[in-house]
Amino acid sequence: MPTAVNNWQTDQKAGNGKQPKPEYKSAFRILKSYINPHRKTFTLVTICTIIAIASELFQPYLVKIAIDDNLMAGKNDYSSLIVICAIYLGLSISSLFFTYLQNNLLQDAGQSIVSRIRKQLFEHITRLSMSYFDKTSSGSLITHVSSDTEAVNQFFNQVLLTLLRDGLTLISILVMMFYLDTTLGLYCLLLLPIIALIAIGFRSFMRTTYQMARTRLSRLVAFVAENLAGMSLIQVFHQQKAQGELYKERNEDYFKANVREIRTAVTFNRTFDLLGNLTIAFVVWTGGKAVLGDTMEFGVLYAFITYIRQFFQPINAITQQWNTLQSATVAVNRIWGILDVEPEIKDAAKPVKINHDAIKGRVDFNRISFSYGNGTPIFRGLDLHINPGEMVGIVGTTGAGKSSLMSLLCRFYDVNEGSVQIDGNDVRHIPQAELHRIVGLVQQEPYLYAGSIIDNVRMFDESISREDVVRACEFVGADQLVSRMAEGYDTRLSEKGSGLSAGERQLISFARIIVFRPKILILDEATANLDSQTEQLIQRALQVVSEGRTTIVIAHRLSTIMQADRIIVLSHGSIVESGTHAELIELQGVYEELYRHSQGEAAAASEAESANESAAAPEAHTIR
Ligand SMILES: Nc1ncnc2c1ncn2[C@@H]1O[C@H](COP(=O)(O)OP(=O)(O)OP(=O)(O)O)[C@@H](O)[C@H]1O
Ligand SMILES: [Mg+2]
Repeated sequence: MPTAVNNWQTDQKAGNGKQPKPEYKSAFRILKSYINPHRKTFTLVTICTIIAIASELFQPYLVKIAIDDNLMAGKNDYSSLIVICAIYLGLSISSLFFTYLQNNLLQDAGQSIVSRIRKQLFEHITRLSMSYFDKTSSGSLITHVSSDTEAVNQFFNQVLLTLLRDGLTLISILVMMFYLDTTLGLYCLLLLPIIALIAIGFRSFMRTTYQMARTRLSRLVAFVAENLAGMSLIQVFHQQKAQGELYKERNEDYFKANVREIRTAVTFNRTFDLLGNLTIAFVVWTGGKAVLGDTMEFGVLYAFITYIRQFFQPINAITQQWNTLQSATVAVNRIWGILDVEPEIKDAAKPVKINHDAIKGRVDFNRISFSYGNGTPIFRGLDLHINPGEMVGIVGTTGAGKSSLMSLLCRFYDVNEGSVQIDGNDVRHIPQAELHRIVGLVQQEPYLYAGSIIDNVRMFDESISREDVVRACEFVGADQLVSRMAEGYDTRLSEKGSGLSAGERQLISFARIIVFRPKILILDEATANLDSQTEQLIQRALQVVSEGRTTIVIAHRLSTIMQADRIIVLSHGSIVESGTHAELIELQGVYEELYRHSQGEAAAASEAESANESAAAPEAHTIR
């Protein structure tokens, strides 16, 4: 399964330490543009933070006042003690209140920014051209939409708050310590770079272990995904044991990485605690001597020790957030890497005005040349002209370029040379929204969405009435299938229409195309999944639908196109034969050979089918 595998590869790169270098400048510039509209909120957050920190840091100082000016001074001043206690309580409540407020405000702003980014990203991706999806795996796009936006979320959720709150706390604590005792304050200031160095060293080690655990988890997930996708293959080839062994290996790898990560974290945290306690012991020793020597008040020592305790927490938090900041920066740059991609296929600056009802459906491929990216050319000067209302069948071996030709008509890609025209208008000049109303495409693998049958047929377009949908379903013979469902047309299909057979999904997608009444209808291997009787049903429907409508049918099964006004045989991107069925048979060329082969297959298939019919229960064929 390419998705999971690619995802794993992305993670592998990250695990090898080859992660893109975070470019803080551009990331911050981008984030700032998102923060700007929320400036007021962010100012309020800062004010709340300052009040909350002040309320917290003033508490030890209050105790110092109580000790030095009251208890140690030998005054029996109960009333001022009560006042101090009341203020202490007030400060605690204030700290609680403003912390709560600050958190809520920041979350509101942060979450709304992240949800905006997520929406923007998704909308942008849906506007990108098919050539982009050829180059980019859906796995990595899923990672961008999910975990990269999550990293930005963490930036607002944790990093910003930490930088603001813990940064301010650290500075304030230092100020308070210097205010209380300059010498001790100086000692602690000297300690700061040492602590920071230890913390940063540990953190980078922890990052490596974290990355490793993540890489191994991705490998594990990719492995499961692959196996789930190919479960039938595993069971048919009895691969359970072999796959189980492989899984065991990966699982053990992940287990080890996890244990290592946890051990590193525990070691770091305990080292940090130890460092904190050593500092306290040091302060008790030097401060204690000073108190005994009467050069320091006892309350000062008490306050100092309390501040030292609080000193380590913000340093820890800041170094911890450093990693998150790095991933967020990389994520932001990656997200903007996608947002900066311009769709290759864009509407012309001055598009032609199209009167949808006046479109006749003439299609011209004028000496077109085309290649995917810089690959080998698929078409070299192909010329094909289709008259309005004509039904053209296209046949050719696998890889001949049939689907590619249709992609050019739908303008999923642009030609390198020549032009594709509809009623004399270059498709590059027709607005895409209009073009896709003119050209309707039914592919071999129809895509159904999670939603009711009605919604799937009308593609969530409420302006199409229920009656129209029902009529379209009856028209293609999907009504029998629907009537067997528990809630009829309101039955909800699960994602990708699972639960329906490929042929049943195709019937629904036929109904879809009929509802949208395109002027030019393309069926690309659309009947390949249908049994021959359902195909006949579709064939009849097709005859009615193709009436007055240009229809291009690509089929391996020649019975589908025998009735076409013209059949075109494509080989290696060139038209090698063209004519009606009878003409081509007479020509005794490629088509005739294909036809002979298909006759052989058809005979075999009908034999198999009749054998089935006699064996199977009658209800097995209800969708006919
Ligand atoms: N998205 C793509 N990127 C690069 N090459 C592509 C892409 N799609 C198709 N090709 C190549 O273009 C050639 C024509 O492919 P195309 O899908 O048009 O063939 P086809 O006639 O529809 O075949 P089939 O009968 O199997 O559907 C093939 O060689 C294929 O490998
Ligand atoms: Mg094809």
